[in-house]
Amino acid sequence: MIKALRGMKDTLPPQNEKYNYFIEKTTEIVKSYGFEFIETPILEDTGLFKRSVGESSDIVGKEMYQFIDKGGNDVCLRPEGTAGVVRSFIENKLDRVGAIQRFFYHGPMFRYERPQKGRLRQFHQFGIESFGVESHLEDVTMIVMLKKILDTFNINYELKINSLGCQVCMPPFREKLVAFLDKTEGLCEDCLRRKETNPIRVFDCKNPNCAQLLKPAPRLNQNFCETCESNFSKILKLLDRLEIAYEVDPNLVRGLDYYSRTAFEFVSGDLGAQNAVAGGGRYDRLVEFLGGRTTPAIGFAIGIERLLEMIEVPDAERNGYYFGALCEEAIETVYAQADKRRSSDNVTMGYSVKSLKAHLKAADKANARFCAIIGEDELKEQVVWIKDLVEKDEVKQAIE
Ligand code: HAM
Repeated sequence: MIKALRGMKDTLPPQNEKYNYFIEKTTEIVKSYGFEFIETPILEDTGLFKRSVGESSDIVGKEMYQFIDKGGNDVCLRPEGTAGVVRSFIENKLDRVGAIQRFFYHGPMFRYERPQKGRLRQFHQFGIESFGVESHLEDVTMIVMLKKILDTFNINYELKINSLGCQVCMPPFREKLVAFLDKTEGLCEDCLRRKETNPIRVFDCKNPNCAQLLKPAPRLNQNFCETCESNFSKILKLLDRLEIAYEVDPNLVRGLDYYSRTAFEFVSGDLGAQNAVAGGGRYDRLVEFLGGRTTPAIGFAIGIERLLEMIEVPDAERNGYYFGALCEEAIETVYAQADKRRSSDNVTMGYSVKSLKAHLKAADKANARFCAIIGEDELKEQVVWIKDLVEKDEVKQAIE
């Protein structure tokens, strides 16, 4: 038997009801903040991810679903959504509009990771990207909005936040860090590789020995330029004022290379080892780096599977009609009545003749509000017998 690929899952009912419920509620929230839906292709030129997510990241280095298509093009299933949205933003000349533009998207992402609880090879994200705002207020808005989404679903979380500096303070810091790493013996192979490609990613290393060795390492938050220092402190002050709890985590460097300044993650103790439910940050240089006009930008993405694991969906209310026939002669009349009713209500129909009890049971299973039945007596009277499964009352309505 052919099975789904490792790390890829079917979404069956009622899990997909949960998925739709999440998308619906979250869409309402982000639209109320002025975000509009954008959809970009799942398959993109591999170069897009190499340039944006970065060659030094695990995503590009090890986890891409990359192949040569029939036309000889080097293509890749998107491992995340930001790069495609930025490509589209530039390609559609939105970088020339000059106004603030805010987008949201949702759909499948692909990373060839080792599957485990909370880590899939095909997973889904709900992401948002905001273009054109430099103000730290937008950074805070991202966090407020994400918090509002998680609160809507009663998720337990902690907010971790850091700043990754900018092109003024990052290069001298990088030199300092590399000098420290050069003197440090015993780092793992991954860290030695990161030292060459993107040294700050050593702080992301999960190896306990490296964590110990990195304790005395220079920290970016002690080496900010004035603008980054003041920007980060304004963000923290406003979060304090809004009574949003956070932890400044100097080890939070994120797994994607495009970030600068604010980076944040919401983690939940209700998840296993893969505890990040959402993450994001500022990427002020990326639009320019991919060939567009310099445009400040910031966004985040929620891991939908991780979030769904923690939410309860309220039971759907009974809704619509179930139609059934008690005798063979009534079937076509029932079919025609059900078909008419479809113009205004959700309708299901039992195609075979059954007892009233069996039809009522089927209506209950279909979560219908009304059970509509036609038998010999109803045919004679030219009526439909309808039971309201909530109020429990019964009526007869003329056959239309
Ligand atoms: P990310 O942190 O790589 O950020 O992914 C965001 C979320 O996707 C994670 O917090 C996690 O919940 C979920 N996720 C990631 N990998 C997996 C996986 N293998 N299985 C299940 N869930 C997973 C980004 O992707 C950035 N594009 C976010 C962003 C948008 N930054 C700025 N704008």
